Amino acid sequence: MPTTAEDTRRMRQRWDRRARFYDKLTTPMEHMVGLARGRAWVFERATGGRILEIGAGTGKNLPLHPARATVVASDLSLGMLTRARAKTAGATGNVRFVVTDAEDLAFKDGVFDRVVATCVFCSVPDPVRGLREAARVLRPGGEVVLLEHVRPGGILGMLFDLLDPLMSRLMGPHINRRTLDNVRKAGLQLVEDRRVFSDWVKVVVARSEKGRES
Ligand SMILES: C[S@@+](CC[C@H](N)C(=O)[O-])C[C@H]1O[C@@H](n2cnc3c(N)ncnc32)[C@H](O)[C@@H]1O
Repeated sequence: MPTTAEDTRRMRQRWDRRARFYDKLTTPMEHMVGLARGRAWVFERATGGRILEIGAGTGKNLPLHPARATVVASDLSLGMLTRARAKTAGATGNVRFVVTDAEDLAFKDGVFDRVVATCVFCSVPDPVRGLREAARVLRPGGEVVLLEHVRPGGILGMLFDLLDPLMSRLMGPHINRRTLDNVRKAGLQLVEDRRVFSDWVKVVVARSEKGRES
């Protein structure tokens, strides 16, 4: 079902409300499920160029962006992004902050070398549409690098399917996203699928299909 304006409004409101508590609430997860390690992997291939971060949130990744890069940190929630901006206060910045919806990015085609997102496509209502947007704004051959919790295999996956309606209603993010399939559906070419925590938290690297001809 396509995302409605009401879905987007509710999502924005939810994250605006959470912004104050986000860092404190999520800190334990950084080490419990390897998110800190995953974040480092997301940025290990980035050396410079023009980077778009989707769903930058409170700016946990800002210290990891390479110093030589030109960074656009974007998010649907002004509340989250305001916290991110506060963290860079006083720094001479190569970072620009933009409030925009992952499903309808406010950028021209092909203007970024790399798109990164961490723990975002579990929340975006239509992840395939969001990933198509990521592909659109990438230059030919550019890469999308994601850190996401995904639907695990086996019986745990079935359990996550059962729990997802309740969990997403209570918490917001979905716990059973098939992110690898979504990457392919969005027309991106899968380059790497790296386990961060079992088969549940992954770093996924994909390339713009446009890059095949280049
Ligand atoms: C779990 S937080 C992750 C924040 C940050 N990337 C991190 O790793 O800490 C999810 C973020 O995705 C953002 N988000 C949710 N839906 C979005 C959308 N449709 N477009 C852009 N950002 C969105 C939320 O506002 C929130 O900041």
